[in-house]
Amino acid sequence: MIPYQVIRAKRDGEELDEQIISAFISAYVDGEIPDYQMSAFLMSVYFKGMTAAETVALTKSYIVSGETMNFRDFDFPTSDKHSTGGVGDKISLVLAPLVASCGVGVPMISGRGLGHTGGTLDKLESIPNFSTNLTSQMCEDMLKKNKLFIAAQTGTMVPADKKIYALRDVTATVESIPLIVASIMSKKLAEGTGSLVLDVKFGNGAFMKNVEDARTLSKAMVDVGNLYGVPTVALLTNMNQPLGEYVGNSLEVRESIEYLRGDIRPQDLNEITMALGSVMLVLSGIANNISDGKKILEQKLESGKALEKFREFIIAQGGEPDVVDNVNILPASPIAREVFAPLDGYISGFDTLGIGMLGVEMGAGRTRIDDIIDPRVGFRFLAKTGDYVRKGEPVAIVFGSDIDQTINSVQKIAESIKYSAEPVEKPKNIEFIIKEKIESFDWNAKIE
Ligand code: URA
Repeated sequence: MIPYQVIRAKRDGEELDEQIISAFISAYVDGEIPDYQMSAFLMSVYFKGMTAAETVALTKSYIVSGETMNFRDFDFPTSDKHSTGGVGDKISLVLAPLVASCGVGVPMISGRGLGHTGGTLDKLESIPNFSTNLTSQMCEDMLKKNKLFIAAQTGTMVPADKKIYALRDVTATVESIPLIVASIMSKKLAEGTGSLVLDVKFGNGAFMKNVEDARTLSKAMVDVGNLYGVPTVALLTNMNQPLGEYVGNSLEVRESIEYLRGDIRPQDLNEITMALGSVMLVLSGIANNISDGKKILEQKLESGKALEKFREFIIAQGGEPDVVDNVNILPASPIAREVFAPLDGYISGFDTLGIGMLGVEMGAGRTRIDDIIDPRVGFRFLAKTGDYVRKGEPVAIVFGSDIDQTINSVQKIAESIKYSAEPVEKPKNIEFIIKEKIESFDWNAKIE
């Protein structure tokens, strides 16, 4: 394999075979191909794209660059979920114990906040003493014992993506479907799950702003998962407003516990969680169809089994389990200020990206890799798109750590909420389902 020839072939739009791709990536990881040649290759992929076969080959070459886990031959099914990221997206926190309580193993390697979006690991770490740094052996033991772990990628998993992602970041080659697909899917497939459901978000709080882009990305990811032999389904879900009520690390853990306890079940959080969970149960052979899946999940919520699974999971990962009974143990902000509706009318939308960025500014996320998260800060939204509110009624609460910053944030949150005098339709939470393996979806979404 001569790097120059590989770059030229891709530059000229030729299809590369699996061995060439594999040799090129492993030579780069081993330091035999310099950054300037990999940069030229990435830019060629950016402009010329890749076929499904090439994208699978690229994904495989990332996977084999490091340590992998494999839970596919366990005596129970395994299934995982990946979200492309949003604001207030705490679905993993409720979905993982809920699905695990149904007898499906959930091996979840998760991430930290990225840009304006929150990260599951950061949220979980607001539980006192909770650890997300697990070895592969610990992951395996926890999966066998509790059917669940949520952990950070180990240092030796998918090193090719780590090295190439850093290069893409500085060579304007992030926004390429095959490169995004290989990056995301390699990390998910390396964790050894038996099946996978993708929550691909679109809207003003997502990385994909419109449904079409989200659909293209979803199809490519579903193809790669299925061609790799892991049944994969994608749901395209709405991220034009914060998901659920709370945004912020500790606040989202609180909301997740309240959800599992049945204290509050925001409609969007509930609908998307039920949909993703039902797909996981169908893919795992636990439910025959989506309606059955929903019934099983509801029964686990009502019986308290999902909440108990969450408690077991916290204990296993070293956290303080009493948070399940007393959410006041979670870190709480010293300051709370309400945001009031400026007029009588309907909420017509949110600047979701702005809300996410404001959270980062207040300390809920990072602007530099070594920033320390403030788990306490964030927001609660008391009304959502389509709701009617009266002038002077509280529509949100800002939770801050500094009085001046909190007052400033109240103003910014007020500006991020849009109003209309005319009634506004509530947004559809799930737009499309992209599936290969399942024939029995029966909810009201267009099937690809
Ligand atoms: N997230 C990833 O892990 N990789 C990408 O390329 C984009 C988003």
